[in-house]
Amino acid sequence: MMEHVIVEINEGIALVMINRPKQLNALNKQTLEEIAVAFEAFRDNNDVKVVILTGSGEKAFVAGADIKEFVDFNGEQGTELAKTGHMTVFNIIEEFPKPVIAAVNGFALGGGLELAMSAHVRIASTNARMGLPETSLGLIPGYGGTQRLPQLIGKGRAFEMLFSAKMIDAETALNYGLVNHVVAQEVLLETAQKMASSFMKNSIVAMGLAIEAVNAGMLEGAIGYDVEVQAFGDCFETEDFKEGTTAFLEKRKPTFPGA
Ligand code: CAA
Repeated sequence: MMEHVIVEINEGIALVMINRPKQLNALNKQTLEEIAVAFEAFRDNNDVKVVILTGSGEKAFVAGADIKEFVDFNGEQGTELAKTGHMTVFNIIEEFPKPVIAAVNGFALGGGLELAMSAHVRIASTNARMGLPETSLGLIPGYGGTQRLPQLIGKGRAFEMLFSAKMIDAETALNYGLVNHVVAQEVLLETAQKMASSFMKNSIVAMGLAIEAVNAGMLEGAIGYDVEVQAFGDCFETEDFKEGTTAFLEKRKPTFPGA
């Protein structure tokens, strides 16, 4: 029984909706586990041809990893958090043998943008805001963001997003190639479904092989994922991490000691 994820399968399309609206759909451990279970079930289910990932409510796709859950972690636990995420969810989605479309319906921040970037295609609603705010918490992205963002938008733009920790709007994301289309929120799911239906007309076997081939082309940089996991864990041993996450939870601006 899923608590934080709603799954519906209809005419070949599986909809996975992250559903923790009070926490802006932030990814806690259980939510990640439920996403993993859903994808595992879709793999050999012939009724599933395409998957759409979205967030519930009108405000957020996913506002990131759940900060409350890791605020007390040490370096080892931080590394483990990132590693588990990579292995059980983010890499699984990227390598999933059927097309995965992210319908970004609002804030997609940190782990939320990383989730959207693991999907093969992204469509955003006009109100969507995307960013990697981790450095404002004394962290770096730990769910593949340091690798997938530069792959999608280039290093210069990715560094600006990482260093500024600022959000970009849907129009800028479209300009950058971070999302393929921008539509009104009312028609976001319908647009994603139409795209899914158009994909389904083509060979599911061929699409799976295309996913494998495209991903193989990125393998040259695969060591980057390992560096990210380790570096993410290293952040947890810093005073900046303690200050950044505490400031977020206390709803104040951080003053980083720089150590
Ligand atoms: N983790 C835990 N709780 C979160 C959260 C998160 N990532 N994002 C939002 N929430 C919670 C808030 O704490 C708040 O809870 P309370 O009502 O209990 O106070 C609730 O969701 C609503 O959020 P806000 O009151 O902050 O809503 P807002 O409209 O004022 O701001 C926002 C919206 C700009 C998205 C803001 O919530 C925000 O900045 N969220 C954090 C974004 C972030 O830093 N994400 C990165 C997380 S780190 C990460 O993802 C690491 C990784 O790569 C693995």
